[in-house]
Amino acid sequence: MKTINIGILGYGIVGAGVAKLLKEKQELLTSRIGAVLNLKTIADIDTKTDRGIDLGTTALVPDAQKIINDPDIDIIVETIGGETFAKEFILKALENRKHVVTANKALIAGFGNDLVNTARENQVDLAFEASCGGCMPIIKSLRESLVANNIKSMSGILNGTCNYILTKISNDGSEFEDALKQAQELGFAEAEPSLDIDGYDTAHKLAILNSLAHGIKINLKDIHVEGIRNITPVDIEFAKSFGYTIKLLAIGKMHENHVEARVHPTMIPDTNPLSHVEQSMNAIAIDGDATGQTMLYGHGAGMMPTASAVLSDIADIARNIICGIGGRVPILGYPEENIKSIPILPMEELYTRYYMRFEAQDNPGVLSKISGILGDNKISIESVHQKGRMDNGNVPIVMITHIAKEAWVQQALKQISSIDSVVGIPVIIRIEEIIQE
Ligand code: HSE
Repeated sequence: MKTINIGILGYGIVGAGVAKLLKEKQELLTSRIGAVLNLKTIADIDTKTDRGIDLGTTALVPDAQKIINDPDIDIIVETIGGETFAKEFILKALENRKHVVTANKALIAGFGNDLVNTARENQVDLAFEASCGGCMPIIKSLRESLVANNIKSMSGILNGTCNYILTKISNDGSEFEDALKQAQELGFAEAEPSLDIDGYDTAHKLAILNSLAHGIKINLKDIHVEGIRNITPVDIEFAKSFGYTIKLLAIGKMHENHVEARVHPTMIPDTNPLSHVEQSMNAIAIDGDATGQTMLYGHGAGMMPTASAVLSDIADIARNIICGIGGRVPILGYPEENIKSIPILPMEELYTRYYMRFEAQDNPGVLSKISGILGDNKISIESVHQKGRMDNGNVPIVMITHIAKEAWVQQALKQISSIDSVVGIPVIIRIEEIIQE
């Protein structure tokens, strides 16, 4: 039986999960793949800490070059994370004609086009199922299973930390900082929390998925990104009273001459299944023109769910090796010559409905001033909600608008902020009605 040699760069949580599956599931994997997946070497600067895995004959070395330059190694798994060493090692591995599997979303989102070109030039595969949505097979779904669909839209909850924080505030009345601390203790938050809570981690994933869904180059820089720092329990309570839930969504939509790609807190109706995705779970709804709505749900992070996704890439590559083929599935889902240049819609051009919350001194005429400014900016109000006074004597005024243009809304907010009786910065949350077909 054929043996396929594997090396792992980085023996942290995910690297250890991959080693564990390769060791403990060897019989299942051999029987499913028809070849032995042999974990030959792991490289990590920490060769001393016991990860609780019986490595048997696998070597644990401190030098990544021992794997990258080993002529016997067929597949290299990068689980170092970050963008410096990981990028250098992956490029070198691809140039050495090794197939590479990575879980590194920041790297693929930021430098994926270059890495894909290097892989193509060297006729090897680059696979990254674990980069988006942990164990959910979203990359394979977009690249292979949904091949006969134009993907009209995708909406995803792709960051477990944000979903956990929003769930805790909504269900338990937790404070933002306490919920974040719990997420960090549970181990799915990034080492740098702003990557999670300011939306960048979600944007990395959306950049990758938008490319695969729509056949465009990976484009991170034009994605509009907002995080959840400004979401307050007051907004969550108002949302609930309207039958809505607030989620940090990654939204990708295809239009004739542009795509939408945006990450921001979004109000979705409680009839949308995404509103019931709680705690640290991830989910993505995809609207294909043949399938209609389809959804994936699962753990977006964690040792074994992420390792499971890495193993699916290893298995694909191993099966290609057995058949003596490579590049069967284009890395970005389309052959290079068919990848289109379609711009991302500038945010100010977006049309959607808005939730707006203003804090105002309870003076006569303030409501009419606010609605006057909205009217002057072509924004039509669907409903107005005002509850009792806050502890400081001010009143929260909430408005739901009909569909309006983002540029009009931003202009109106500037003008409203300058009204004397309006206190602080108005809050806006975009409303997304996901069409169920
Ligand atoms: N920090 C990420 C999350 C981990 O919270 O979902 C997975 O990318």
